[in-house]
Amino acid sequence: MTGATGLVGTQVVRALHSAGHEVRGLVRRSSATQHLRALGTPVVCAELGDHDGLRAAFEGCDTLFHCAAVYAYWGLTREELTRANVAGTRGALQAAAAAGVRRVVVTSSSVTCGSSAGPVARDEGSLPGEEYLPDYFVTKTEQEQVAFALGAELGLEVVVACPTIVVGGPDWRLVPSNALLVRYLTDRFRTSFPGGCNIVSARDVAQGHLLLAERGSAGERYLLGGENWAWRTIHQTVSELCGTHGPWATATHTAAYLVATAAEVRSLLTAQSPSTTRAEARTMGRYYWYRHDKAAALGYAPRPARQALAEALGWLVTSPHLPDRVRAGLRLHPEVTDSRDLIPRLLDGEAGTPG
Ligand SMILES: NC(=O)c1ccc[n+]([C@@H]2O[C@H](COP(=O)([O-])OP(=O)(O)OC[C@H]3O[C@@H](n4cnc5c(N)ncnc54)[C@H](OP(=O)(O)O)[C@@H]3O)[C@@H](O)[C@H]2O)c1
Repeated sequence: MTGATGLVGTQVVRALHSAGHEVRGLVRRSSATQHLRALGTPVVCAELGDHDGLRAAFEGCDTLFHCAAVYAYWGLTREELTRANVAGTRGALQAAAAAGVRRVVVTSSSVTCGSSAGPVARDEGSLPGEEYLPDYFVTKTEQEQVAFALGAELGLEVVVACPTIVVGGPDWRLVPSNALLVRYLTDRFRTSFPGGCNIVSARDVAQGHLLLAERGSAGERYLLGGENWAWRTIHQTVSELCGTHGPWATATHTAAYLVATAAEVRSLLTAQSPSTTRAEARTMGRYYWYRHDKAAALGYAPRPARQALAEALGWLVTSPHLPDRVRAGLRLHPEVTDSRDLIPRLLDGEAGTPG
């Protein structure tokens, strides 16, 4: 399992453990591994570019879950994203083939199926059109192409998972999907935006990965999503679950772009990540809506979006990602507080103390 320390990877490791599989986590020297140790998962240190290290790590494994990638809209050039997401996938698959791995589940993204101008759900047969694509989207598309081509060339059974907007915890670094919820709660104007997206729980995406490993067809990709909602519905639900007001306003393209520009400038001055980016502002108004019938035919059954949001908020509201002043103003719905029980104490105690 590469990317075993990430939001998605952590849940895939847990799902594999629960299903009785033996898992080995491939991590970097800098990775936060305490939750893997808590699960009793052996870890091996190797960089994605280190063929011999990867090959040794994969020896004796039947299946590789390649979940490692950089999911970011800021702070990295296209070349750096390509190195991690595309060259990293090439290296992982080559090492997997050399180590005798039979099957590889590659974590891609629904963005490789494009987005729509109106409220229309897309499927695995869809591709991006003429719309603006942030560098991250481009590298995920290239990653898929490399994975399928290498699978055919090296005789690996490659199945591609395409999660939508994944929410949940634990999320040590606050990935852009969870950041959308935090950003809304920290915005004093509680601004919503036009368009929509597909919300899915990290736990359901993890179960989807297991299903694809067991029953997915080689050479195929599968969308792993939840419900398609307008952003306004998502924000209204977050407000309701957190007992707070809003949304009060809906951003226009120009306003969103100007706010993102200011956030990026501020971030350059403070050396902190921007709360929003121009790349994200440029995707505003699009519908990232998807169907998951193909995965459903294998048994994939995600929870409702409201529950996914409640569980994600249950983790986020007590994480270091939400400032105390914002937390103090929330009156959490029982659906949120009850979902705290779903997070093991050990992981809870370690929130915010990676390293
Ligand atoms: N979150 C979403 O909404 C979403 C949606 C669709 C698809 N995805 C995909 O799901 C996968 C996991 O994303 P995530 O949301 O779980 O992000 P994440 O929490 O940032 O996890 C990324 C993982 O990849 C590892 N990684 C990154 N660069 C690496 C490198 N150069 N070498 C080795 N490991 C590296 C990280 O290791 P460290 O801990 O050492 O940094 C971490 O384990 C990615 O492929 C992403 O594109 C995510």
